[in-house]
Amino acid sequence: MHSRADTEGDANTDNRLMRDYGQRMGLGLKLSDCFLRPMKWADREQVRGWRNQPAVRRVMFTDHEIGSGEHCRWFHQVLSSDAYSYHVFEYQGRPVGLVGFFKLESASGSGEWTFYIAEGNVPRGTGIAMLYTGLDFFFGSRRMSSLFANVIAWNEESLALHRRFGFVQDSTKQIERADGVHEVVCLVLTKAKWEGHRDAMSSFIRE
Ligand SMILES: CC(C)(COP(=O)(O)OP(=O)(O)OC[C@H]1O[C@@H](n2cnc3c(N)ncnc32)[C@H](O)[C@@H]1OP(=O)(O)O)[C@@H](O)C(=O)NCCC(=O)NCCS
Repeated sequence: MHSRADTEGDANTDNRLMRDYGQRMGLGLKLSDCFLRPMKWADREQVRGWRNQPAVRRVMFTDHEIGSGEHCRWFHQVLSSDAYSYHVFEYQGRPVGLVGFFKLESASGSGEWTFYIAEGNVPRGTGIAMLYTGLDFFFGSRRMSSLFANVIAWNEESLALHRRFGFVQDSTKQIERADGVHEVVCLVLTKAKWEGHRDAMSSFIRE
């Protein structure tokens, strides 16, 4: 049986190996090329196009094609409520993806997130750089304390990325969509856990 100390020891070793691997590969994106900026009204048609891409829709709980009226109502709600904080991720000045925080509660310091890369022709490591800047915003700039994620269990790429950033499984649930019932893994990342992982993840990025 693993003791807490053993588990933390394993995590530290994992973090060190990951850092060494990232540095050896030297693949990290330059942080100065990465910019997470607030989503604005003028982004709405681009974001609707991204959100309706089959590869994005298939991993979302709401998977129907989103019409213009539905999207405008949602967009207005996102931009006018403190419970949301949505951002466009730009790489070398080109908008390529989205990181959205929702169910934000300042009293508990908690929130949930969603994200995707929706443009092709981006370098390997774009997802990692986008999530890194998103987590720095959430725990650093916004000073929040816990971030939740709900990932469909077969979305192994997203689950692996979450775990790499230090998220741990909190619970499971099921969702029903037109194509059937799907298992969902609910994960959480605390500020303390992020601070422990940040250094290792920063090696996937160049200053
Ligand atoms: C999930 C998603 C954002 C990942 O984006 P991505 O740009 O493909 O991710 P990255 O390129 O950063 O990471 C992919 C691989 O590159 C590797 N990599 C990245 N930077 C690296 C570096 N500096 N050195 C070595 N390897 C590196 C990662 O280890 C990873 O490898 P693995 O697949 O073997 O684990 C993207 O696939 C996506 O938008 N998916 C659809 C939407 C989605 O699932 N959203 C989540 C909903 S819960």
